[in-house]
Amino acid sequence: MAEKKSSEKKEKHTHLIRLRNVAKYYQMGEEIVRAVDGINIEVRPGEFVAIMGPSGSGKSTTMNLVGSLDLATQGDIFLDGLDIEELHESDLAQVRGMMFQDIDSEVREARAEQLLKMVGLEERMDHHPNQLSGGEQQRVAIARSLANNPEIILADEPTGNLDTKTGEIVLHYLDKLNKEGKTIIMVTHDPRLAEEHAQVIFHIKDGKLEKVTKKIKGRWVVIDRGTHN
Ligand SMILES: Nc1ncnc2c1ncn2[C@@H]1O[C@H](COP(=O)(O)OP(=O)(O)OP(=O)(O)O)[C@@H](O)[C@H]1O
Ligand SMILES: [Mg+2]
Repeated sequence: MAEKKSSEKKEKHTHLIRLRNVAKYYQMGEEIVRAVDGINIEVRPGEFVAIMGPSGSGKSTTMNLVGSLDLATQGDIFLDGLDIEELHESDLAQVRGMMFQDIDSEVREARAEQLLKMVGLEERMDHHPNQLSGGEQQRVAIARSLANNPEIILADEPTGNLDTKTGEIVLHYLDKLNKEGKTIIMVTHDPRLAEEHAQVIFHIKDGKLEKVTKKIKGRWVVIDRGTHN
């Protein structure tokens, strides 16, 4: 009995995020779209992981499931050992910060000013989102996503339509947050970006996990973590 307890505890601390046989299907008329088709993913605390794959492979769908913006058709998602379906929105907000959503409301008051200062935009405090450049909006999105001091940052194509220089600033910022201990999941279709910033890459194709690679001593090697559990 005591043994079982300790293994549960270990499980909880090994994986901050765990997707177990997760699928998301959409009914489109007669057709079923298998956007995500049974994937297993494990992310450890403090890791910077990338979800990489071609357009339409299911990256954003996966991310939205992790961020609990959408419900899985099948499978389980655990955050810090807890089933995401049993968590309340207030709990979820404390765990994860979603980046790069539309900026539609005021930044959370309490920490907003301080956070904007951190991303160098305090003088833009009174600007309406549509008075900000794309890069400035991204930085405000970062500030807003950090207002709850979340453990996990979910970044879907963080450099989106940004110019190279602004994109680098955003990525540099993600690296900094990761060094400070935040767990980062970044969605990208760009291998260069994934290899430069992530420690583990989940390669997905047609909604399925194709392989998992990890940087070991500067080289990317295929590992099987997450592919069977
Ligand atoms: N709400 C929806 N209804 C029906 N099909 C959907 C829906 N959302 C996504 N899909 C389909 O699921 C598949 C995966 O979509 P998803 O947005 O996850 O891809 P992605 O890997 O993020 O692509 P991109 O790199 O272009 O952003 C696509 O074929 C898409 O058309
Ligand atoms: Mg996408």
